[in-house]
Amino acid sequence: MDDYVLLHEIVLAAKGLLSPAEWDLIVGGAETETTLCRNRTALDRLAFRPRVLRDVSKLSWNAQIFGAELRLPLFLAPIGTPQGYGGGPVAAAQAARDFGCGMILSSVSPSAALEQVAAEANRKTLVYQLYVRGDEGWVKAQVDRAVTAGCAGFAVTVDTPLISRRERDLANRFMVSRRRHFPNAEFQAAFNWEKLARLRDYCRLPLIVKGIQTPEDADRAVGLGIDAIYVSNHGGRQPDHCLGSMEILAPIVDCVKKRAKIIVDGGLLRGTDIVKAIALGADAVGVGKLFCLALAANGSAGVMSMLNILENEVEVCLGLLGILNLLDANSDCLIHDAFPPQERNSHLRRAFPLLDSI
Ligand SMILES: Cc1cc2nc3c(=O)[nH]c(=O)nc-3n(C[C@H](O)[C@H](O)[C@H](O)COP(=O)(O)O)c2cc1C
Repeated sequence: MDDYVLLHEIVLAAKGLLSPAEWDLIVGGAETETTLCRNRTALDRLAFRPRVLRDVSKLSWNAQIFGAELRLPLFLAPIGTPQGYGGGPVAAAQAARDFGCGMILSSVSPSAALEQVAAEANRKTLVYQLYVRGDEGWVKAQVDRAVTAGCAGFAVTVDTPLISRRERDLANRFMVSRRRHFPNAEFQAAFNWEKLARLRDYCRLPLIVKGIQTPEDADRAVGLGIDAIYVSNHGGRQPDHCLGSMEILAPIVDCVKKRAKIIVDGGLLRGTDIVKAIALGADAVGVGKLFCLALAANGSAGVMSMLNILENEVEVCLGLLGILNLLDANSDCLIHDAFPPQERNSHLRRAFPLLDSI
């Protein structure tokens, strides 16, 4: 089926196609899943202040990043391990290209090499994301590959010095030993500010640091000349008991003071979530789990449907709030600390209340 009209139909279709262990791998978080749930709670605690009578007959939501046009300031977030679903990263790149959003390709997507994905992508909005799996010579070689492939940017993920205990995967015996599963992971554990500084010196592409959760680290990264701070708790999949992304975003925006671009992800599952993130000061958002489920549901067409529905939700949200251009959304349209809706059983059900079976 590719005539989805609701995002939850995509989620349901993916659930029907994935094995229970694959489903858990995608939707699960670390340990108690407190960070995972807080991502949604933080979004739900933001309420809108709609303004009326503003002639919203012409609305816009396009943006620019690293000199490239985006139809919506959205990146398909890097998704590594579930490599093969729905045609994998090549299919995702086709959808991102045809729709006009960005894509950050994970370096641990072995179902397709960077070069294969780049051949199908809009390279102006393709970013290559690295987990450090070798020494500094190896890292430089990955930068060179990204340059040769024509990527628009290079991202290094810094929130994964160790792989967290994702209890759904452990209970499913899906990955018994993550250390064995990820050879050379010790290079990631040893990655530090000095190595990041040398990477900055070497890398001529816009450099994104993914997995920043504090203003102190954002400030230090900006001081090194990092082009974009990617605010993320890895979708609740790395340290548990952290704040939701929307809670950490505003202090980081305040600290960065436009010296670098800001991308944010974590629990974004609806168009209203995108508007909230931009209103809090992000330049663009990343969508992880929902993208992964859309890919699993119906490959490239599934991701296109997801993007079209998200775009329509953004359009409706802007019109109903009286905001003519998404990039003009700011904290004036938000109230913090609103009561989140009544607790439901899971973070997905909070976003998709019609999904009783999840
Ligand atoms: C199945 C899965 C695989 C992921 N693989 C990677 C990866 O290879 N590299 C990375 O930086 N982040 C990875 N992430 C984290 C995402 O890029 C993103 O930060 C997170 O999913 C955003 O939260 P959301 O899923 O709530 O949208 C992965 C997330 C999921 C769900």
